[in-house]
Amino acid sequence: MFLSEGTVDHLKVLISREQIKQKVAELGAQITHDFEGESVVLLGVLKGATIFLADLAREIKLDATFDFIAVSSYGNSREQSGEVKLVKDVDQSMEGRNIILVEDILDTGLTLTYLKKMLLAHKPKSLKVCALLDKVSRRKMPIHGDYVGFEIPDEFVVGYGLDFAERFRNLPEVCILETGHESS
Ligand code: IMP
Ligand code: MG
Repeated sequence: MFLSEGTVDHLKVLISREQIKQKVAELGAQITHDFEGESVVLLGVLKGATIFLADLAREIKLDATFDFIAVSSYGNSREQSGEVKLVKDVDQSMEGRNIILVEDILDTGLTLTYLKKMLLAHKPKSLKVCALLDKVSRRKMPIHGDYVGFEIPDEFVVGYGLDFAERFRNLPEVCILETGHESS
């Protein structure tokens, strides 16, 4: 952990760099196997999925391209507003492509439900969801990840791409963020 002490935020490592590395390799191998002989589009959801996508892509031994979409998210609060808005659309046509939607975390499922519906209108050949983390107990929509790294408890996590008010994305581990404790 390389953050300086004395902040009001307390970080507790939930998933280590080694655990992440191992899991990302497994997910990449599984995707490579499932799409053998095909090409895929790794479609990342900005900004949280960027670090995961960068590592995952190097574990996928297939003809692959990248694209990115952005949706409005939590802003500076921890709660999902319930509304999803597309902020940046795809750059390439998705028609007839094998899309792997890469997300940092599946929480209520609102974001991915919205994105899946939108992307299916592009008539892709296939559409799969790959999420590093899954907070199953928080789900409000009937959606599941096709490739899921870790099921985690209902805790707010940061690091490895995930943020709180845009901070902490650069932590190499996934950490639980506990606020409200003033450090003495
Ligand atoms: P959903 O629409 O509720 O499934 O939310 C998905 C999005 O919420 C993710 O892409 C994250 O940006 C954000 N999110 C959900 N849980 C967390 C968390 O624990 N830490 C950071 N961001 C989160
Ligand atoms: Mg996100």
